[in-house]
Amino acid sequence: MLRRVISLFSGAGGLSLGFAQAGLKPIFGIDINHDACITYENNLGISCHNLDLGASNNSELLNLLSPHQDVLAVIGGPPCQGFSSAGSRNGLDPRNLLIFNYFAIVEKVRPLWFLFENVEGLLTSNNGKSVFELVRRFISLGYSLRLEKVNFAAYGLPQSRKRVIIIGNRVGASFNFPFETHSFDAGKHNKLLPLFPHSPTLDEAILGLPEVATSECLIPYTNITPINEYDTFMRLLNDSGGVKHHFSSKRDNDLERYKLLKPGQTMKDLPENLWHPSYRKRAFRRVLDGTPTEKRGGAPVGIKRLHAHQCSPTITSASSHECIHPVFDRPLTLRECARLQSFGDDYVFSGSTSSIATQIGNAFPPLAAKIFAETVSQIEGKAGSGMAFPFLRKAQLIGYRLTDSSGMSPKLMHTDSLLKSLMSNQVEEKFLHA
Ligand SMILES: C[S@@+](CC[C@H](N)C(=O)[O-])C[C@H]1O[C@@H](n2cnc3c(N)ncnc32)[C@H](O)[C@@H]1O
Repeated sequence: MLRRVISLFSGAGGLSLGFAQAGLKPIFGIDINHDACITYENNLGISCHNLDLGASNNSELLNLLSPHQDVLAVIGGPPCQGFSSAGSRNGLDPRNLLIFNYFAIVEKVRPLWFLFENVEGLLTSNNGKSVFELVRRFISLGYSLRLEKVNFAAYGLPQSRKRVIIIGNRVGASFNFPFETHSFDAGKHNKLLPLFPHSPTLDEAILGLPEVATSECLIPYTNITPINEYDTFMRLLNDSGGVKHHFSSKRDNDLERYKLLKPGQTMKDLPENLWHPSYRKRAFRRVLDGTPTEKRGGAPVGIKRLHAHQCSPTITSASSHECIHPVFDRPLTLRECARLQSFGDDYVFSGSTSSIATQIGNAFPPLAAKIFAETVSQIEGKAGSGMAFPFLRKAQLIGYRLTDSSGMSPKLMHTDSLLKSLMSNQVEEKFLHA
């Protein structure tokens, strides 16, 4: 079976790491961020080309991507600032066009499979037309695909992190996404399923770490033996006896704010005279469709004290100054954020503190990446072995899931109707050609 994988927009390497852990073989990454490339190379031992994937006529890029007949998968998550609810949601943001650069590379390389990741804002960006067009193009190219919004907490991540994933193949295999394996409670978002084990809580994920330092250094573990299953998992490959990136970035003039916050409380629960000026500016802003920003995904919470016994909220580049530890009066450290993203303690990031925070916040959690990679690998193995297998007669949208909740916003309903029409046209075509 082919195992070679190319990672686009590879960042710090979360997606590639998971694919490697599943027994596949990332052959190189590409990213515009120099620090992320160094992190990728140092940890994965694979080259990462520091290139702009938006410059489609760059000769180095063209050489690198000359058709690889033997590539199992192209994987990657184009940047999402333009789509993110924390960003501008500007359909015309040039970074949004990078989703079509991703498509163009799949078109050139023609892997058997691809995996595409993005934020949920992609679903409603440009009135659903961006995602519809992307799906349509993949199908025209001969790929059968599934699109689903997933929450990685349902796969055992100690973090509620909702992402849109599209997986496609051109071998005609019908397939499902991996089964969800865990219940989780993240406060606002939860899925409590009887018989399913719980995803680790924030507390369980970070409790085995030693006390924080005041600046970057290797801090030895306090408990020589791991204190729970997740702690064991995090320490598995770490033979340094301690952790890096575990220093407090607390701001002295925020100390009073930290002390007043109880778990679950945010800047808006503080007396107004303690609000940060930047928060005050955003607090009452309404976005274009009239929804107050605090009702949207990436609400301007300013700072927030987390709950110990829930999974963490989505880790972003801001978490190491906005997410306050459940017990201590300080924000999460970079290492705590990395653990919540399921990077083992041996994973060392390169660059400044803010560059590392961005790399961690951007990453596809390796734990989830491994699960998705195993699914691709198993289906490919079955399909390639000639076993009885549900093969499709032509490229199509096999299925999609836009939300787990019972209702949809008008914008999401519009996207739903576009994708539905795509599927019903397929049925008619199938019928016509039967
Ligand atoms: C969402 S992150 C992907 C994270 C990665 N999948 C991981 O698992 O760690 C998006 C990445 O795209 C990179 N990027 C943004 N614009 C780019 C461009 N024009 N060319 C190449 N990479 C770009 C960013 O530096 C960032 O690392």
